[in-house]
Amino acid sequence: MNTRKRLKLLAKQILPVPIYRSLAATLRQIFQGYIPVGKVNMGSFNRLTPISKYWGGDRGLPINRYYIPMYHRVRKTAARVPFLRSTWHFAWALAECLRDPWRNPSYFERLFAATDPWQYETSEGKKRLSLAASMLERVQQGKFQHALEIGCAEGVFTEMLEPHCESLLTVDFAPTALHRARQRLPHAHIRFELFDLLRGPIHGRFDLITAMDVLDYIFRPAALKRVRDELIGALEPGGYLLLVNTRQDLMFETEWWGRLLLRGGKNVQDLIGGHPSLHHICADITETHVFALFRKDLA
Ligand SMILES: C[S@@+](CC[C@H](N)C(=O)[O-])C[C@H]1O[C@@H](n2cnc3c(N)ncnc32)[C@H](O)[C@@H]1O
Repeated sequence: MNTRKRLKLLAKQILPVPIYRSLAATLRQIFQGYIPVGKVNMGSFNRLTPISKYWGGDRGLPINRYYIPMYHRVRKTAARVPFLRSTWHFAWALAECLRDPWRNPSYFERLFAATDPWQYETSEGKKRLSLAASMLERVQQGKFQHALEIGCAEGVFTEMLEPHCESLLTVDFAPTALHRARQRLPHAHIRFELFDLLRGPIHGRFDLITAMDVLDYIFRPAALKRVRDELIGALEPGGYLLLVNTRQDLMFETEWWGRLLLRGGKNVQDLIGGHPSLHHICADITETHVFALFRKDLA
């Protein structure tokens, strides 16, 4: 019996049947059905077996047929075994950290091809924004003098924030976002500016800064730490920082690599809240989001 057959037999004996089948199908697809891009399998005139082992089902079909089922199979197999599941998420998070796609405004511009891409106008979306606004109401004594909103998108939260502020500077790095937010609030006393948080610096001092669903698009831990220092530096003593971040799979919150790569709302929030000059004022956590309001030291 050759090594391949021995391994196959061993896997069959030790793995549960569905995992064995799924793994076998994935490996079969990788090693037998896969022809690298740019290569053509010319076959051999001496062969005595059919060219296609799948009755032609693997030939002449859209290229996606090769990759999409393969991706789903690997993912499904990984999801069944806790260790593989964690490795899969880790590999994915690491790849995203290296690619860091969302640092580029053009990624967001593509989303803005549709209106309200995050569905903030739905009742579910508004509930999330109202929860954030209610946190501000809890601590507010009069209006905020100088407020800064980072990443306004189409201005749905800007509209809620505006009545609480004497002056409001609203920034985003996607021109379409700013354009739509301006159209939504044409008469309001709000200053709109194109600004990239990753490039900084933030000019001015503010008694309120909000960053809702923005920091979780920063995939590099070093960049996130720089942004944290920038935000805290721009807060006046006693100023408030309101953060909302999207949660990821629970694994991101429990595995060591989630904390290392700072992915997922809870890890982002923990990093910011761990700064010695910030105090936790209130927090909330839902199935999808982590909310937190911090206050900077008076000294
Ligand atoms: C998911 S939306 C959040 C919208 C809004 N804050 C809310 O929660 O209603 C993210 C917004 O942040 C903006 N954004 C992402 N990265 C940014 C950066 N580095 N600098 C400025 N804006 C950014 C995007 O263009 C997008 O409009």
